[in-house]
Amino acid sequence: MTLTSSAMPTPSPVSLQLARRMSRMKTSAVREILKVAERPDILSFAGGLPAPELFPVEAIAQAHAEVFAKEGPAAMQYSTTEGYGPLREWICGHLAQRGLPATLEQVIITAGSQQGIDLVAKVMLDPGDVVVVENPSYLAALQNFDGYEARIEVVGSDDEGMRVDELAELAARFPLKLIYIVPNFQNPKGTTLSLARRHALVRFAQRHGVLILEDNPYGELRFRGEALPSLASLDDSGVVVQLGTFSKTLAPGLRIGWAVGSREMMRALTVVKQSTDLHTATLAQRATARLLKQFDYDRHVTRLCAVYGERCQTMLDALEAHMPEGTRWTHPDGGMFLWAELPRGMRGEDILPRAIEQKVAFVPGNPFFAAHPRSECIRLNFSNRPPELIEEGMQRLASVLAAQ
Ligand SMILES: Cc1ncc(COP(=O)(O)O)c(C=O)c1O
Repeated sequence: MTLTSSAMPTPSPVSLQLARRMSRMKTSAVREILKVAERPDILSFAGGLPAPELFPVEAIAQAHAEVFAKEGPAAMQYSTTEGYGPLREWICGHLAQRGLPATLEQVIITAGSQQGIDLVAKVMLDPGDVVVVENPSYLAALQNFDGYEARIEVVGSDDEGMRVDELAELAARFPLKLIYIVPNFQNPKGTTLSLARRHALVRFAQRHGVLILEDNPYGELRFRGEALPSLASLDDSGVVVQLGTFSKTLAPGLRIGWAVGSREMMRALTVVKQSTDLHTATLAQRATARLLKQFDYDRHVTRLCAVYGERCQTMLDALEAHMPEGTRWTHPDGGMFLWAELPRGMRGEDILPRAIEQKVAFVPGNPFFAAHPRSECIRLNFSNRPPELIEEGMQRLASVLAAQ
């Protein structure tokens, strides 16, 4: 792939030869349509956005002000790649409460869980190595693995999450390197991996020597049912790296997440992080650590869960009330998304332009599939709009479908 650069006033544009991986990193047509969905007049359920009115902006501002007042020069300085000690200590305590005791050396701070995905991929994947994902799966993880020229293989998914029973057949065909999974309230489907499958998945990874990348950005946002043990908490042999983040509980703009796993793996991630960004922003780390000391995080998360639970229920009720026969959807116990299958013959990508004309938007399901795309699927976000707009939006969407 070449890039013709004419941004500078040169007499003739210069053609640059880009890396081979760039030809694998396509921009999707949907992304272009979704830019339109960001227009303020459109009621969009497309983005993966938390509710902005619930960001604890004042508390975050105060924590930053205190960092400037009390530890200004240190917060402006370079820092260690592993991350700020007191923040890592807080995360260790937090994980221990959730059945995952970890020492300080087993936790590193990342720029969101997205960087955790990238670092693990960089440590684990050579071109052609096999990564297994649930089909459909988180788009930006698929793009990341593509960037490392991995071979992405899929297993199916149902209401209990990843079809772990399909892994054995894949393992018979390829040496597997990495299994990527979002076990709680998956993006895009909103489904949760059942307890039996969690045990089976960890056993499989131990038996076959495969690393599980447990991406858990939504685990805290449970509004129904009992929390299930994490994959990392079921493993005692270092085959799981778990990623966490404050993006969905505090604010994504902070760009603070973490990775937890074996000491050896954390050392490897630290080496690659060093060459990637030296360390996560010192100011944001220190402000987050200070915030967590003086702010009732658990109460805040309980409130988020209550609000998202209500919004999810509103969306489920509105779908039930308005959607044409033949539409089906998932019933998440937490998180920010649900997944709908449109009536037979309808394609998300065809419906989207018409939906935008009616000033409502969603994400068509196609790009989330690494193989065998199912065009009748769409993803709907329920966290970003208040209940009355969710009701209004679902009515608009239903009228677009009814008109087909
Ligand atoms: C499954 C999944 N992983 C990772 C991320 C990235 O989150 P972060 O803001 O922590 O980088 C997202 C964001 O939407 C996500 O849905």
